[in-house]
Amino acid sequence: MFLRAPCKINLTLDVFDKKERTDGYHNIDSFVVQFREPADELRIHIKPASDRNSIKVTCNDSRLPVDTRNLVYRAADAYLTHIDSLFNIEIDLYKRIPTEAGLGGGSSDAAAVLRALNNYFNQKVEPLELTAMAAHIGSDVPLFLAEKPVRVRGRGEIIESLDFELPVFWGILVHPGIGVSTPHAYAALDAVPNRQPVTSTERLLSRLCDKKEIPINISELLATGLSNDFEPVVLTTYPDIAKAHEIIVSAGALRTLLCGSGSAIFGLARDLQHANQLVDILTVNFSSIMIVSSSYPDAFNIKQI
Ligand code: C5P
Repeated sequence: MFLRAPCKINLTLDVFDKKERTDGYHNIDSFVVQFREPADELRIHIKPASDRNSIKVTCNDSRLPVDTRNLVYRAADAYLTHIDSLFNIEIDLYKRIPTEAGLGGGSSDAAAVLRALNNYFNQKVEPLELTAMAAHIGSDVPLFLAEKPVRVRGRGEIIESLDFELPVFWGILVHPGIGVSTPHAYAALDAVPNRQPVTSTERLLSRLCDKKEIPINISELLATGLSNDFEPVVLTTYPDIAKAHEIIVSAGALRTLLCGSGSAIFGLARDLQHANQLVDILTVNFSSIMIVSSSYPDAFNIKQI
């Protein structure tokens, strides 16, 4: 099987006080969309085994572990254990989504494996159970089981579909050349005294549900609605990311937004032509820059090979 595992960005990301939960995680409220590109690619081979399960992962990026620390390994292991069958699984992972960028690459890879195995085994695992399995692997894995924009709550395990069509929008994605560790970003947020989370998700979603609010260009609405609680603290902690942020603003992006807990930055464009102009201006500043759009077709292809 050949699969693409797309990246995500959080258009809003409200992070609540850690004390709300007893498991050490934070409740969040987030509006998440997936972008078709950049996407990782996975090739999965499944064969029945006679005596025990075996899982083998190979990866083009030699810096990534291919053992139980890799989320695709954990996903395959969790699935086989759950269905209690003996199989040999080989996964060849081709990484295109940068790691520690807040784009959910590893989580998307794990969700792709869960979806592929559940297809192979004729949806043997019910959706609710699959979501629980995904949440056990990582907080961002459940959202990637959905093939559309979703609202994400809890620590990431509560996924809600939205009852409106999100019009297509365009932007650029910049990787500033450094990564941010998610646990460190959460710890930095916890260290901010008297931090008040904003309720940007509720606000943006109710505006998007209100037909009167959708302007001719969705970007105009998004420009005033994008929000990420990590942004101030990550920009203060990492001057290189703050600098990249400033450069994208001066190039004329309608709005810039830190992706997840960082480090990638999304620059909102008016349309495709504007996104192209931004790339032309910014290629001198960044070696990793690309045009992204929220269109979904073909993002989730699973092909037999
Ligand atoms: O679930 P995952 O392994 O992706 O989380 C990585 C780390 O990020 C957790 O150990 C925790 O420190 C932090 N986290 C959190 N609240 C969340 C998601 C992640 O505190 N909702």
